[in-house]
Amino acid sequence: MSLLRTLLLTTALVAAPFAVQADDRPWLDPKLDPAARADLVVKAMTQDEKMQMVRGYFGTKASWMGFDLPKGALPDSAGFIPGIDRLGIPPQWQTDAGVGVATQRSPTPRERTALPSGLATAATWNRDVAFAGGAMIGHEARYSGFNVMLAGGVNLLRDPRNGRNFEYGGEDPLLAGVIVGEQIRGIQSNHIVSTLKHYAFNDQSTSQSELDSHIEDAAARTSDLLAFQFANETGKPASVMCSYNIIHGDYGCENPWLLNEVLKQDWGYPGYVMTDWGATHSTVKAANSGLDQQSGFPFGKTDWFGQPLRDAIVKGEVPQSRLDDMVRRVMWGLFATGAVDDPVKGDQASSLDYAADGRASQTDAEEAIVLLKNDGGLLPLAKTAKTIAIIGGHADVGVLSGGGSSQVYPRGGMAVPNEGPDNFPGPMVYYPSSPMKGIQARSSATVTYADGKNVKAAAALAAKSDVVIVFATQWAAEGMDQDGLTLPHDQDKLIAAVAAANPKTVVVLETGGAVTMPWLNDVGAVVEAWFPGTSGGEAIARVLTGEVNPSGHLPTTFPASLDQLPRPVLDGNVGNKSSDRNRIYTVNYDIEGAAVGYKWFDKKGLKPLFPFGYGLSYTTFEMTEIHPVDIKRDGLIVGFTVKNTGTVAGKDVAQVYVAGTAWEAPKRLGGFAKLDLAPGESQSAEVTIDPRLLATYDSGSKTWTVAAGTYTVMLGADSDDIRQKVEVTLEKMTFDVRGKWTGR
Ligand code: BGC
Repeated sequence: MSLLRTLLLTTALVAAPFAVQADDRPWLDPKLDPAARADLVVKAMTQDEKMQMVRGYFGTKASWMGFDLPKGALPDSAGFIPGIDRLGIPPQWQTDAGVGVATQRSPTPRERTALPSGLATAATWNRDVAFAGGAMIGHEARYSGFNVMLAGGVNLLRDPRNGRNFEYGGEDPLLAGVIVGEQIRGIQSNHIVSTLKHYAFNDQSTSQSELDSHIEDAAARTSDLLAFQFANETGKPASVMCSYNIIHGDYGCENPWLLNEVLKQDWGYPGYVMTDWGATHSTVKAANSGLDQQSGFPFGKTDWFGQPLRDAIVKGEVPQSRLDDMVRRVMWGLFATGAVDDPVKGDQASSLDYAADGRASQTDAEEAIVLLKNDGGLLPLAKTAKTIAIIGGHADVGVLSGGGSSQVYPRGGMAVPNEGPDNFPGPMVYYPSSPMKGIQARSSATVTYADGKNVKAAAALAAKSDVVIVFATQWAAEGMDQDGLTLPHDQDKLIAAVAAANPKTVVVLETGGAVTMPWLNDVGAVVEAWFPGTSGGEAIARVLTGEVNPSGHLPTTFPASLDQLPRPVLDGNVGNKSSDRNRIYTVNYDIEGAAVGYKWFDKKGLKPLFPFGYGLSYTTFEMTEIHPVDIKRDGLIVGFTVKNTGTVAGKDVAQVYVAGTAWEAPKRLGGFAKLDLAPGESQSAEVTIDPRLLATYDSGSKTWTVAAGTYTVMLGADSDDIRQKVEVTLEKMTFDVRGKWTGR
């Protein structure tokens, strides 16, 4: 720890409400190591105090709760764990989640800044943007009185229909792990805890609590678990949230393989595992399998980590040492992040700089927007256009956001009231950042809006306009998967009719993830804007008008059809989303194993609608000079050069793929770099390919082995557009389960 940080923490300690003399409470000495502090405080706790630390309450008063919120809980929040004043331990005030400070449904929600969806942030391929976004929302959380942010969703995108894909980082373990890890690091830079969730294989919503995921150990560690492992190493989250689903017969929150073995033993994870809300299913099994904290009581109804845990300890079914370990882990997280030394000071939201926070969100959105098609340079919008028609998507007033527990309510209220379901995961929230106003502010053309409900009227408006921009939306939310890949509410028909009336049609998509585009050949341009956050309208306008050169690249494959997927039909109680809770359904992830997303498409020779990594720019780039630089214990260093060969400045995402033998798929993403290039400028860059991305995992010996032999290292603009190749011969190397070099 730097001297400056130590001083800051010490100063904060003096000012803090929980401040005490460190000499009679030595665990409050910030100079000590967090593990030592956790040991000391656990020794000082009574059994009641220990029990208090392992069970959290839901933070929102609901009719079914049957009791009042505990004293000190913040209303309409995700959760609360009372503190222990005597020991200087603050309460844990928990808030959702990944795009900002969410509010559980309330007539008077907290109004805060929302980042673009997690998938959008992954589309930036920019670690710095991800960190800055995390730092911003963590700051808002802290100033809203929260010290635990339930962020860090990194479930791998195995199926484009998963209703929560928008919360996660896409289909590639490296990209998702690193981007989500950076967001976590940003959040925790505010001296608050972030989670990493939903651990693990919680990759669809349909029948999620009844779904038993099957995947063989090595494939698991090369796919979903590798994303968690990278995110954990990058972000060092103080907490991991275990998931609702079942994995190989054991629920995520009582799964000895996932919790005790992989997370704690193999990865040496020092923090605590909290359940998802209502995901606890037992006392003895859960505690002994590695669960440390039950969340959100009375979700799940039974007080598993209340009296039943106390009784189980008395009976010796759960050792006292396990309870001590649970508490030690929670305390480690609070000490390691600075949540004890620099406690939150209640609601200080009135002093937040929302303008600055809005800019951080906008930067993220601007780098996330992906230009998918741009025939004849239809974009950026020509200054000569005299009439612009804007159709659909409520683009006159706002942009769409994703729903569920992660829902952030915007400042200024919802732009479109009364859309979507009344109950969870509704409402459908549009942020009051109007793309239309943003375009109008930057154009001398006459801009006219039609809501698109009348297809004929929309087509007529299109026919008499110089350019048409159709906004198409697909709402996504927790608790519901998409029926398929088709845009809802017949929007394909609207787009087709508009494009038939005027081929100078630009389609802007605000979607949770991939959709099909039957009208693709008939429109001039397509832009994927995801759920672009509370400044999304401005970001879209800046991209469409050319103030910002688009530089987002797809973090997920856009399939051409459902038949291309490993599971054309979702497993579980499809068609009855309320799901039969008395049945267990199996989802066989061994069909694709670790060949997720583009790896599956590569392996099967399938042509997607748009490949992973795809994204156009208003300029052009040339990639040259790929070459191996060095092989070190932390990976293979590869160098290359990228040149901006066009006439405007732009950012390129150089993607390094690597092919080995006997892998799950022909190639893997090994590294990437986002380079900002002036017209004519060349830049050289290097990436280090993590040894685990060159290796195969052996479950028996728990080692990663890079086989001796020749590897093809490729430089590409996307997974299907490889521009440069070089062969690299490597000697055999072995790495331990954490990816550390162990020998040749
Ligand atoms: C979600 C979590 C969330 C929790 C608390 C659950 O329904 O799955 O992502 O953090 O609720 O609101």
